[in-house]
Amino acid sequence: MKNNEVEQRILELRKILNKANYEYYVLDQSTLTDQEFDKYLRELENLEKAYPEFDSPNSPTKKVGGQVIDRFQKVKHQIPMLSLPDVFDISEIEAFHERVLKEGIKPTYVCEYKIDGLSVSLHYEKGELIFAATRGDGVIGEDITHNVKTIKSVPLTINEPIDIEVRGEIYMPKKVLEDINKKREKESLPLLQNVRNAAAGSIRQLDSKIAAERKLDTWIYHLPNPEDYGIKTHEEALNFMSKLGFKVNKEANKVVSGLEEMEEYIQKTAEKRKSLPYEIDGIVIKVNSLESQKKLGFTSKYPKWAVAYKFPAEEVLTTLKDIIFTVGRTGRITPNAVLDPVIIMGSTVKRATLHNEDYVLLKDLKINDIVSIRKAGDVIPEVVERKLERRTGCEKPFQMIKNCPICGSVLEKRKDQVDYYCMNPHCPARKIEALIHYCSRKAMNIDGLGDEIMEDLFNLGFVKTIPDIYALYKHKQDLIELEGFGNKSVDNLLSAIEDSKSNSLERLLFGLGISGIGDKTALLLVKIFKNIDGFLNASYEDFECIYDIGPILAQNLYDYFHNVENIALIEELKSIGLNMNYLGENERHHDLISGKRFVLTGTLSFTDRDSLSNLLISYGGATSSSVSKKTDVVIVGENPGSKYDKARELNIEIWDEKKIKSIVDSL
Ligand code: IVH
Repeated sequence: MKNNEVEQRILELRKILNKANYEYYVLDQSTLTDQEFDKYLRELENLEKAYPEFDSPNSPTKKVGGQVIDRFQKVKHQIPMLSLPDVFDISEIEAFHERVLKEGIKPTYVCEYKIDGLSVSLHYEKGELIFAATRGDGVIGEDITHNVKTIKSVPLTINEPIDIEVRGEIYMPKKVLEDINKKREKESLPLLQNVRNAAAGSIRQLDSKIAAERKLDTWIYHLPNPEDYGIKTHEEALNFMSKLGFKVNKEANKVVSGLEEMEEYIQKTAEKRKSLPYEIDGIVIKVNSLESQKKLGFTSKYPKWAVAYKFPAEEVLTTLKDIIFTVGRTGRITPNAVLDPVIIMGSTVKRATLHNEDYVLLKDLKINDIVSIRKAGDVIPEVVERKLERRTGCEKPFQMIKNCPICGSVLEKRKDQVDYYCMNPHCPARKIEALIHYCSRKAMNIDGLGDEIMEDLFNLGFVKTIPDIYALYKHKQDLIELEGFGNKSVDNLLSAIEDSKSNSLERLLFGLGISGIGDKTALLLVKIFKNIDGFLNASYEDFECIYDIGPILAQNLYDYFHNVENIALIEELKSIGLNMNYLGENERHHDLISGKRFVLTGTLSFTDRDSLSNLLISYGGATSSSVSKKTDVVIVGENPGSKYDKARELNIEIWDEKKIKSIVDSL
């Protein structure tokens, strides 16, 4: 074949395959048999291999995955990706409708399903997909193009050679989650909790082959720039996107003119919900006219022209078989419900936390009670109430324990607090929990040292303290002989331990388990103090003046870094060779932001304080709550407080809204 004939054939094959993909995955009607499809695909693959000059990153051959990235790049959304205000009953929808009417609008609305997945932004240039990003914090998302390309219903080339951004939801169909979990159960792997986490986990894979296997799908529901295409209503925008080749939920979406029709739509959808092949967690109601949308505008977080009605969380009945007690790493005792296993929202629930004694007493729970269990969209199941009418007289009253279930020492309740604590610092349960926490994913991320193994290693005497983890190599032979460990997994474990020594400081700081210091706070702190000596030398005030750090956390931090045992632990970890510096992994840089300390005061119209603070931090800035000599810049919005006066008094640089907005826009 001549070169131009090859090119023609390649283009033709791509057209055939794109069309077949569209028909199969968007319209749900196939015109090619599987064999025909495979035949064309193989022909195209062979031609692209033999003539790499005609290969294209958006060829349908790329749908199978294969591209591997080494990290997720951050991307800034030119138009922020907002979320929606939740409403939970009809009266709140009425209130929304009233607010719309008050603006002098005579609305029609579009009702849509609220798809339970994660939102995505798709960008096309001249009709070709150029990148796809997650929502992230709404301003900065992550580039997930390599994985999105593997989603069959996402067109790599659309029907018009235009520049466009569309937004929608990536989701995992219910059946796919079921199949994956069946397989994982056979392989004794932990089950994926729900469709949303499963979809989000799949999209966060570096290797797009894995994402491709997860059979994700999309519904597209938002056009951020409708005026660029002369579009006047949301309904038109949906039709326009559908015509371009996107998967738009035409069967579900409905234009309604008032509350009555909305209620009917909600009712019908609630009935249909269970039989849908994908999970929805509510209904989104959007004002249809784009001019009216503009009139209604936005708050800092939400559009004022739409609400998300959330379905009530699903509840099921089961038996409360027992209440057992666990000891956390701080010594806190938690009562836990042991339940007759029930499936709720796609996953099996066997346990639920009962938080503390007061919670159990308030709910009047007894062992053998029939209880209702609720699971909202998220992972944590909750005991709603006991069913009084189902009591038989065989129920056993709840009794709070007096002694630690593990070490037997007498429990203490702190003044004005509801929790009981095991105060024994040598309690094995506390130590095991602390070690598990140290190795956990968001802390030192040592793969292979999960709950059960750590308990074994502790009981065998191999790991009693954090430094023991780094001496595990001395027990290599013992480990190999341990049940469940082979030669290879011991090697993997030992190298994971070794690798963890070079983690950036925030992981270690979080792993140390200082009361109240979560992973996000740990990151914020290391950006300010840079290395462990910064923490050891900090005063109480140095901690307290940081935005987000209140007096309790400041005291916890100060106490931790002035305790002799903790100082000795840190010294020992230093001598083992652990990195003690913030490495600023993936950190972005901006001359006007990086390394500076900011204080924010007053209201900004283009963003809220938390988002801006996160953004500054992600560029290596730090934010504090009070102005001091150490402050570099005070950002001043409308109605600033006394911080503004203090800044002027101390002669500190001041940025007004215009200045910060222009910097944010340039990022
Ligand atoms: S519209 C500016 N429509 O729900 C409006 N969102 O709670 C942007 N979602 O972040 C959102 N189905 O991830 C819209 N039909 C739908 C939706 C939907 C699911 C998600 C989306 C959004 C979240 C808001």
